[in-house]
Amino acid sequence: KTKFNITVIPGDGIGPEVTKQAQKALEAVGDVYGYTFLYKEALMGACAIDETGNPLPDETLELCKESDAILFGAIGDPKYDNDPSAKVRPEQGLLKLRKELGLFCNIRPVKAYDTLIKNSPLKEEIISGTDTVIYRELTGGIYFGIKELSDDGKQAFDGCSYSVEEIERMAHLAFKAARSRKKKVTLVDKANVLETSRLWRKTVTELAKEYPDVELDFLFVDNAAMQLILNPKQFDVILTGNLFGDIISDEASVIGGSIGLLASASVGSENALFEPIHGSFPQAKGKDIANPLASVLSAAMLLDHLGLQDGARAIEAAVQKSLELGITTEDINSERSFSTSKVGDFISDYIQNQEDSNLN
Ligand code: IPM
Ligand code: MN
Repeated sequence: KTKFNITVIPGDGIGPEVTKQAQKALEAVGDVYGYTFLYKEALMGACAIDETGNPLPDETLELCKESDAILFGAIGDPKYDNDPSAKVRPEQGLLKLRKELGLFCNIRPVKAYDTLIKNSPLKEEIISGTDTVIYRELTGGIYFGIKELSDDGKQAFDGCSYSVEEIERMAHLAFKAARSRKKKVTLVDKANVLETSRLWRKTVTELAKEYPDVELDFLFVDNAAMQLILNPKQFDVILTGNLFGDIISDEASVIGGSIGLLASASVGSENALFEPIHGSFPQAKGKDIANPLASVLSAAMLLDHLGLQDGARAIEAAVQKSLELGITTEDINSERSFSTSKVGDFISDYIQNQEDSNLN
């Protein structure tokens, strides 16, 4: 197969600017390796509420279901963040999409890039060599439990629930990933307090017997938060639930030197969505200053998912080069910075020219 249908959901804030650069990278890969990507754009988030009243219009959901992969930008708008009484919120669009498509596993790789080590506020000797990946459960837990607000508005409730089945399907993916990496899974939970966490421990311990070649260890999430910046090199695959994964993945982004670099894949049995872990950065919207690399790297994950490893590696090499040469946005180097679109141009040119020079 060489033709692929991609649904592009630019979303809010800087989403459209960064996904555009990712598409440029995909186009370059298409040219060089002979693939065709057919894009259809769809609305989700605050922009969808503005146009249709619905953060996830049915059309968007249908398009996503039919496509080979989804490239998503960012979601959120400050006008909703400070309004606790808002009935519809942009984030509901993304949460509903994850749920409806069954994207239960969110994969967030975290690497210390040598060229960026000085950008991290953490010490070089601590982060250098870090190579870990967070496997975050994405369609369960407290995000999707029963929610209640009492009639008088004075009490609120968020339920957290996990089933053995939800835990097992995640754990299998995490152990399989560990097999092709450093063969270690760390389960991050709060089993000293939470019943759901105790079920995670029990289930994962049992399932680990099927993977005798992979080491399993456990950390409470508070300790894990500390270990992640004290000694991140100890981690290979981190397996965790929805809320803990949300929190520690932002924390882990500090290791990479910029949150503008972290990509993610959200996969289920039928569909897959690729997105940066950063938010919509509304202050930068339309200014052509946002870092597009997380989105570009999400496109690389998308290619891997489609089995187009050559293209994925080409994008990664181009990103590596842009970091080496300092063709980067102001979050990485404020003294010498390039615009979002210039970085995107560099990436796509590099993919094309690199291939030419290989042929010579
Ligand atoms: C993320 C985001 C989302 C989440 C928000 C936008 C709902 O923070 O993808 O990490 O909490 O999952
Ligand atoms: Mn988050």
